[in-house]
Formats: sequence, C-alpha cells, structure tokens
Amino acid sequence: MFTTQLTCWACGNTYSPDQLINLCVCGKPLRVDYDLAAIARAVSPRDLAARPRDLWRYREALPLLADVEPPTLGEGGTPLLRVDALAAQLGMEAGRLLNKDEAVNPTGSFKARGMAVAVAMAKQLGARKLAVPSAGNAGGALAAYAARAGLEAHIFMPRDVPAANRLECALAGAHVTLVDGLITDCARLVQERREAEGWFDVSTLREPYRVEGKKTMGYELAEQLGWRLPDVILYPTGGGTGLIGMAKAFDEMEAMGWIGSRRPRMVSVQAAGCAPIVRAFFAGAREAGTFENAQTVAAGLRVPRAIGDFIMLDILRKSGGTAVAVEDSALLAEARALGAATGVCACPEGGACLAALRRLRTEGTVQPDETVVLFNTGSGLKYTEAFAG
Ligand SMILES: Cc1ncc(COP(=O)(O)O)c(C=O)c1O
Ligand SMILES: [Zn+2]
Repeated sequence: MFTTQLTCWACGNTYSPDQLINLCVCGKPLRVDYDLAAIARAVSPRDLAARPRDLWRYREALPLLADVEPPTLGEGGTPLLRVDALAAQLGMEAGRLLNKDEAVNPTGSFKARGMAVAVAMAKQLGARKLAVPSAGNAGGALAAYAARAGLEAHIFMPRDVPAANRLECALAGAHVTLVDGLITDCARLVQERREAEGWFDVSTLREPYRVEGKKTMGYELAEQLGWRLPDVILYPTGGGTGLIGMAKAFDEMEAMGWIGSRRPRMVSVQAAGCAPIVRAFFAGAREAGTFENAQTVAAGLRVPRAIGDFIMLDILRKSGGTAVAVEDSALLAEARALGAATGVCACPEGGACLAALRRLRTEGTVQPDETVVLFNTGSGLKYTEAFAG
C-alpha cells in the first residue's frame, strides 16, 4: 500500500489514512496522497498488460491494503468505442470520436467504480453500516457492494427516483428510505441520523475513497489510448467525482512518468434545469452555491449543490475547458441518437454529452481533428420513465 496521507483539497490540513474519516475540520473534502515515486518503481505500464481487465489492475495506485481481497463484482475495464457514424455527422475525422461505455459496469453505471473502492476501504477501516443520499445510481451501487462485503447499506433517495434504482437497492437487501425532496434533503437526513445509528456516510466527496475508484476511468482512458490522453473529455456532472477523479489520475500518471504534461480540455455537462457548475463557470465564481428548483429527467444530474464545486471549477479553468447546459428534450433525443449510432445502451446523462458536443462543434470550440471522449455513464435501461414520458 502506497498511501501516505489524506490532505484537505481546500486548506491543506493533513490526516492519517489509517482512520475512518469524512471531511476536514474546515468542512471540505479530503484527497488521498500516494508515494508516487515508489509506485513508479513497483509497477510500470508494461506490467499491467498481463493483469485482469478490471479496475484493480491499477492496484498500486489504489488505497486498499495489498493483502486484502476487494469486494469485487468485476467493475471497470469498460470499452472505449469508436463512433465514426456520429463523427461523420458532426463533421469530425474518422476515429476521432470515442465513447467510453460505463453502462456495462456492475449495477449498470460508473458509480460501481467509486463504491467498490469506498466500500472496500470503509470495511478495512472498521465500518459496519454505510449510509448514502443518492440521486439513484449511487444507491444501487452501494447496495450491491455492501451486500458483497457483508455490510449494511442505508440508502436515502428522492421519492421520484427511477423505479429501477429502487428495485436494485431492494434486491440487494439494502434499507431504503424514500424522501419527499431532492438529494440535498436526503443528505440532511443522513447527517441528522448517522451518529445515533452508527452509520458511516459514504456521500460523494464526504469520504476520500469514491474519487479513488472513479479516477480509474482516467487510468483506463490513458491505457486504452496507448498512454496518451484525448484532446477533449465531455463528462456529465452531478457531484463531480468522475471529473475530479480523472484529473487526479492524470496528475498521478504524469508524476509517475506514465504520460506527459498535456491535458485534455475538461467539459462539464449539466442539465439546463440543474446547472450550478455551468452557472458558476460563466459567472467567474470560485464556488457554485445552490441551484434553486432543480429539475431534470437526468436523475444523476439533479444535484443542486456539490461540496466539490471549487475543485471542479478549478479543473475546468486550468484545463482550458468549459461547461455546457443542455435541455431535457435535447439530452433525451441525443441518448437515442447515441444508442442508434453505437449500439450502447445510453442513459440521459450520456445523451447530454452528445448534445453538448454538437453545440461545441457548431460554435467551433472543438476541431474536426481533435480526439474527443464522450462518457456514457450509465445504462438507459434504468430510465424507463424518462424515455417513456
Ligand atoms: C448516470 C449518471 N451520470 C452522471 C452522474 C453524475 O456523476 P458525478 O456525481 O460523478 O458528477 C450520475 C450521478 O448520480 C449518474 O448516475
Ligand atoms: Zn480543510
């Protein structure tokens, strides 16, 4: 295990990684730091080729103790697919448009990556009961990994969350509470009850390890592109763990000499009805605050306030990226277009990325010869209500 310490993303306070911990005393998220020089000595990209295609292939850059068996369901190792038909339609060169299909993860979304690592770490550090507020897919992933690890899962979801998300939690034996409100209301309930109930809170960025699981998307992208990064990444953003995790992965890989210093322009894609990061990006703000009356059929994007807002905004600006808000009608139509052109089972959040790319191509922000990665973060099968409506 190569973890050195936990460091606050905001104030720089440091903590021992040998404890179950949520936030810094200043109330901001904690980042996992590694002895990257030691990892670079222990493993090289060439060693990875012989390993199984799941996210544990990057084991040295993950926080779990070396001799601990992770509660795996086969997460990660998702395909990076060429979508030449869409590239042609968008006036891009063949081979330049790629779709990272996270729908094929266990529980049908990229949330499996974060929860696999967070649940493994919570168990290693002594937690027995885990709780989470969820827009939908995170709850399903926690339910599955908690079941796999033999831990209790307590999940708080908005009452109008997709039925498939409720079902997957129930099927995995989780305790589900439906809340009249948004994910922020669910979060408040977890906060209020966790101490009395002995729950460990695994909310987005309120513990350090979901980001570690999500960062493996960045490692995979680099490996699948021959240790090069694309020019542009479009990512549907709610709490932001994926965006933050990938940027962290790029920094780690550069420090280990696995990639160079060139970075993709990171694009945060949100729904017009809930776009706190887009609003803050164009206002030049360092934090995003709360987006009032949040509404969108893309359940994963219905996150009106994100504790990692300042980290995301920093990443977008430093990478020369941008932020795009997409109407619900467009993201649903583009999910169908993505599915029809690629065969992947696209979710509304994945459709949002295609809608955003169309806009950026029209504006001339993305050039025909640039390599672009769209993230389809989950399976469209969970969104029967959204697609039927
Ligand atoms: C399918 C899907 N895409 C995107 C997101 C947003 O992810 P993040 O919280 O990492 O920004 C979610 C979150 O629930 C989701 O379920
Ligand atoms: Zn702090």
